[in-house]
Amino acid sequence: MIYLTGDTHGGIDVRKLLDKKFLKRVKEGDYLIICGDFGFIWDYKKEKRKEKEWLDFFNNQKYTTLFVDGNHECFPRLMQYPQKQWNGGKIHVIREKVFHLMRGQVFEIEGQKIFTMGGASSHDRGPAVGNEKKVIGKSWWPEEIPSQDELNEGIENLKRNENKVDYIITHCLSSSDQYELKGDSFKTDILTEYFETLKHSISYLHWYGGHYHTNTDLSGNVSELYNRILEIGETVAASQPIPGTPIYQKGDRVCFHNQGNCYCGTIVGIYPWGKSDVKDQAVYDISLDDQQTIIHYVKEEDTFGYSCV
Ligand SMILES: [Fe+2]
Repeated sequence: MIYLTGDTHGGIDVRKLLDKKFLKRVKEGDYLIICGDFGFIWDYKKEKRKEKEWLDFFNNQKYTTLFVDGNHECFPRLMQYPQKQWNGGKIHVIREKVFHLMRGQVFEIEGQKIFTMGGASSHDRGPAVGNEKKVIGKSWWPEEIPSQDELNEGIENLKRNENKVDYIITHCLSSSDQYELKGDSFKTDILTEYFETLKHSISYLHWYGGHYHTNTDLSGNVSELYNRILEIGETVAASQPIPGTPIYQKGDRVCFHNQGNCYCGTIVGIYPWGKSDVKDQAVYDISLDDQQTIIHYVKEEDTFGYSCV
């Protein structure tokens, strides 16, 4: 089985991988793909004790950890790990069971063709906030955006596969998907525009990204991941709930089953760790469309889509 999740940020957002239900589900020989901002290769000088402990932690899991790079990685150090050919594409070997899936590659894993292209523009440091001089080489690197050669390599490798893959794994998404998630607050760049072109010219089953720190499905078979763990091919809406990782935000419209009936409404309250007798998932208060009634403590597993039909 191949599992996917979003940013881990060098331990800041790793709690999802310590979830007991996930650890029980995962089997020897499985794969976990992190959609960028792995963040465990971060210190600009060397692999410090904390990084070493975490990388060893990943190396000791039943699954093999695979990640595309995001924008929060120490690129000069990442590039220094030994490079090798693996399952049809190029990787950096971080540990025996921890691999960086390099940019512009097509891998074949468990019979699935997977195109990878990491990278993204930072929005919290560097040129975006006008402090690149202070942080360059320490916590921001220009390599966060792929080079033209890496982008071209991706095009060539896709061509070799007749522009058809099963899955696409990236950190940021196409310009239009980014706009759907973030409006004008995130600027388009050469990479989001490249993905926009791919979205309309490549045949794929599903596209998974990270970067925007939310868990949501977008039109065109795209899912944006943060704290949810999906089986490859799955959507966020169909994935198993994890306590502390609600997939909805206040104001989201959602439909749900309640005592054999279907209702639709707007999320007005969120209890990420559950409430009353529900301890294994988020629950929600939902204001029904008549705006007179609020149904309390709706389990996340009882929600679905935007319409009862
Ligand atoms: Fe991130």
